[in-house]
Amino acid sequence: MNNWLTIAMPKGRIFDEAAGLLRTIGYDFTHVEQSRKLVLEFPEYNIRVMLAKPMDVVTYVEYGAADCGIAGKDVLLEQNRDVYEIVDLNISACYLAVAGLPNQPLSKIAPKIATKYPHIASEYFREQGEQVEIIPLNGSIELAPLIGLTDRIVDIVSTGQTLRDNGLIEYEKIARVTSRFIVNPVSYRLSSPILDNMIEQLSAQIALEKGSDV
Ligand code: PRP
Repeated sequence: MNNWLTIAMPKGRIFDEAAGLLRTIGYDFTHVEQSRKLVLEFPEYNIRVMLAKPMDVVTYVEYGAADCGIAGKDVLLEQNRDVYEIVDLNISACYLAVAGLPNQPLSKIAPKIATKYPHIASEYFREQGEQVEIIPLNGSIELAPLIGLTDRIVDIVSTGQTLRDNGLIEYEKIARVTSRFIVNPVSYRLSSPILDNMIEQLSAQIALEKGSDV
């Protein structure tokens, strides 16, 4: 099985877009959705697919448990791992933003910020010259300002519906986020026909889609 390629894919809602893109370049992994298995083998491509939490894909790739993977730019910015970011896949587009209740100036004394992205948030406020206290949370971040735990949140905005439904507004955009194709540095150096082909096909597909956008 040494000539197999292991790819780490994000479970959950990012999976569909990532799998859809891979299908357009000839790799169909979509029937995995029917199952709860976490490692799936596709002998027809010599590819093994690992399904991991989006935040963990980069870890599997950094340690070489997967040769490559699909990870959000948010996770890459937050974790600063030793992986190569090869192609911007331009899928699962969203952005990181600062949000909070309307008409609430940032408190002058150590405002509190709730986030799943403590590194990105502290860097952002440091650059703004604001001294803040970061409160790390694992999800449902929008709850924090609603019940008075924090002054602001730093979180992903996709459709904006979660902010709207909870009466929150966006104060600043921090960074655009899309999914990236990432590769373990050793796997990249050793190279393999399957990996090379996947990179080439993905790059060509993205260039094609960009071309048809203009
Ligand atoms: C993400 C993010 C926001 C929401 C944004 O949460 O953290 O809460 O999606 O999407 P929207 O702009 O389309 O409403 P997710 O659903 O991943 O769950 P979580 O709150 O448990 O992190």
